[in-house]
Amino acid sequence: MPDGMDVDYDGLIPNNVGLAQDARVRKALETWHPGYIDWWKDMGPEGFQESLVYLRTAVSVDPKGWAKFGYVRMPEYKWGVLLAPAVEGRRIGFGAHKGEPAWQEVPGEYRAMLRRLLVIQGDTEPASVEQQRHLGATAPSLYDMRNLFQVNVEEGRHLWAMVYLLQKYFGTQGREEAEDLLRRRSGDADSPRMLGAFNEATPDWLSFFMFTFFTDRDGKMQLEALAQSGFDPLSRTCRFMLTEEAHHMFVGETGVGRIVERTVEAMRQAGIEDPTDVGRVRALGVIDLPTIQRKLNLHFSLTLDLFGNEISTNAANAFNAGLKGRYREDKLEDDHQLANSTYPVMRLRDGKPVSEDVPALSALNMRLRDDYVTDCQGGIGRWNKPIEKAGYAFRLQLPPVTFNRKIGEFAGFDSDPARLPTGDDHAFIDSLMRPVTEAGKYASWIAAPKVGVDGKPGEFEYVRIHG
Ligand SMILES: [Fe+2]
Ligand SMILES: [Fe+2]
Repeated sequence: MPDGMDVDYDGLIPNNVGLAQDARVRKALETWHPGYIDWWKDMGPEGFQESLVYLRTAVSVDPKGWAKFGYVRMPEYKWGVLLAPAVEGRRIGFGAHKGEPAWQEVPGEYRAMLRRLLVIQGDTEPASVEQQRHLGATAPSLYDMRNLFQVNVEEGRHLWAMVYLLQKYFGTQGREEAEDLLRRRSGDADSPRMLGAFNEATPDWLSFFMFTFFTDRDGKMQLEALAQSGFDPLSRTCRFMLTEEAHHMFVGETGVGRIVERTVEAMRQAGIEDPTDVGRVRALGVIDLPTIQRKLNLHFSLTLDLFGNEISTNAANAFNAGLKGRYREDKLEDDHQLANSTYPVMRLRDGKPVSEDVPALSALNMRLRDDYVTDCQGGIGRWNKPIEKAGYAFRLQLPPVTFNRKIGEFAGFDSDPARLPTGDDHAFIDSLMRPVTEAGKYASWIAAPKVGVDGKPGEFEYVRIHG
């Protein structure tokens, strides 16, 4: 077994970072633990803390078999600290320190910058749990309810991952940051989460699926960029988080896909030729495609804001420092320093969006965002398949990147409310949000999944609600 594959599963905190031999960090984490459990009980899934949920738990970091499935009460979930195995002789792949051995300790000059990166990433993890805490009550099936809770416990584990790095490498300041991560609350007027999209409500299941498709995918891009980090413990942490993150986007993509599939099927059965005949479609108890498009517009635009400003010195500094790379930096073929390169960025010139070449270092946020948009396209294409197959001319599509923006060049540029969900849309979606808790049954507005979790059959009871 390569170094670091062994997971110590005996203590309070499963880990492969040698906590048993690291009394200082173990004590710090054990001190933080009760506050975390209080947070989970207060702000985690509401009404299901005693339920038995068929969850996967990470028990190894071997890519061939890292999880085991079983019934768990969520507050008893084994949230562990797991890093991907160390890569022998790893070197820094970009920036001013390119080619030097990867850091195993925090370089003093970059301490503040690194701490900030960890805190911003860490803050998003509990935020999404808070945003999604009411959704269990309206789950369209036990299968979907289980997937929601799976995402939630793993976001909890991602918080642990960042807190471990803060506790291990940042002393007193790290401990304070770890406390603050439990103190802020999504949407709170006095003490909100750090980033805008993580203070928005996730009021219904279409929002949940859009969020996991679009916003968890921003998470993936950030983790990919941090997985390139010259600070090796961060790189290893993010590489393991990415294995879990893939499932979150699967939940989003297949969730929206199943909604589209059901809508199209119901329209065909009813002989509806015009998918924009919203009244008739809604009367079938399914979500019309134009409403799905407006929800898509909202979640895409909110998520684009997470990539920050078009031109950013922070992004340039983090790259130069070797702390945050580009998407799949190690697969790119250039000098990995970018001192003399340019990158095309959309700017606002005389009231019009135009593409402009700017120094590549200052455009790293946009480069990551462009990679993100490309990554989104694949899923949109798959959502359109059943629409296409049924012969409807309608296609779901990404809105322009200039639409409904709050951050950057295009803030306030184009905010046509007709392309965003209306009060009427929300009221209609809300009217569909009635729980279905009989094993193997699904709400009227969503198709059954193609396969079950962990190879389980259709009627499997993924959540035993009453424990
Ligand atoms: Fe996460
Ligand atoms: Fe996630």
